[in-house]
Amino acid sequence: MSIPIKIAAIGFQVPSTVVTNDDLTKIIDTSDEWIRTRTGIERRHVLSGNETAVGMGIKAAEKVIKKSKIDADKIDFIIAAASVETHAYPSSACEIQAAVGAVNAACFDITAACSGLIYGMGIARALIKSESAKTVLIVATDAVSRCLDWTDRTSCVLFGDGAGAMMLTVSDDEQDDILAVDLKAEGQYGNFIKMPIPGKNCPLVEPNEEEKMFVKMDGKEVYKYVVTKLPGYIEECVAKSGLKMNEIDYLIPHQANMRIIEALEKRLEFNPENVISNIQEYANTSAASIPIALTEAIEQGKIKLPCSAILTGFGAGMTVGTTVVKLREGIA
Ligand code: ACO
Repeated sequence: MSIPIKIAAIGFQVPSTVVTNDDLTKIIDTSDEWIRTRTGIERRHVLSGNETAVGMGIKAAEKVIKKSKIDADKIDFIIAAASVETHAYPSSACEIQAAVGAVNAACFDITAACSGLIYGMGIARALIKSESAKTVLIVATDAVSRCLDWTDRTSCVLFGDGAGAMMLTVSDDEQDDILAVDLKAEGQYGNFIKMPIPGKNCPLVEPNEEEKMFVKMDGKEVYKYVVTKLPGYIEECVAKSGLKMNEIDYLIPHQANMRIIEALEKRLEFNPENVISNIQEYANTSAASIPIALTEAIEQGKIKLPCSAILTGFGAGMTVGTTVVKLREGIA
């Protein structure tokens, strides 16, 4: 018999420092009107001082551990979806483990950019279904503001920082909360969004020049890719879930661009009220955007529990991840 999985808790953390579109006009040639009309973004939260992506991830993790009422030492795995880190190792997951006291957890990071939460859910689901784990904590945390070229107006206006977390465990009833997961990758489009980490040859081999680590994105190509491919991928996942599109209550897409979200809403024939967006407040927080949008919508009463929902993300890779879930009362 397939082991049923419970989404036990979700939560998020964002930095308190806010940068508005008007603020950005002080450093680049842009306007609030351009950013709002092209993207839907009004402001973004960014790290300051010695705050870090891992620090936000720890706070989000602590919230979901508390909400889930699962002791940290019962967590079998921590998966951190953190594409923007200050160092390659130790992994973000290990650092989060140490802070929350998940002493029995195995820990690793995944790189799937903005699809990170859904990739994490797919892996966690497989671990639980195969009886390799009972409880998995996923932490999606990204500090993109630290890796932007703040002189490049085509990319720096689009992103913000944030973290989200989700606790998955074996269900204590028959209900399986994850009805379907569909993960895709199309590496042939890898040049659409890149963040090179400059490595240097030995100086005895050749002289080195200072290089910076910046997000580089071909926004137009990303836009075309997403609006042409994502709706069909979502339909495939819904078909696997056993539900029909019109039986699903909410759509919570990755928050990259309001026009992409509206295109999905139209194509999938969702009622606008049931499509969750908070891009105006947080911009694109990469892997954290879905858990932030989901948790906040529950807290604000825009999502009524219990319900069914589609979570769908896309990002550098290109990667795409979609899941159809049931959300129980008390998870946020
Ligand atoms: N302010 C003012 N003008 C600007 C700005 C800005 N911030 N940025 C670009 N422009 C100018 C351009 O220079 C261009 O001027 P020109 O016509 O004189 O050459 C004009 O505005 C139009 O630029 P476009 O690039 O054609 O603008 P477009 O309508 O395509 O919108 C955008 C750009 C918002 C980036 C859009 O393409 C988009 O949202 N794409 C998807 C991005 C996305 O989803 N990314 C996901 C990343 S996920 C991850 O994994 C990190």
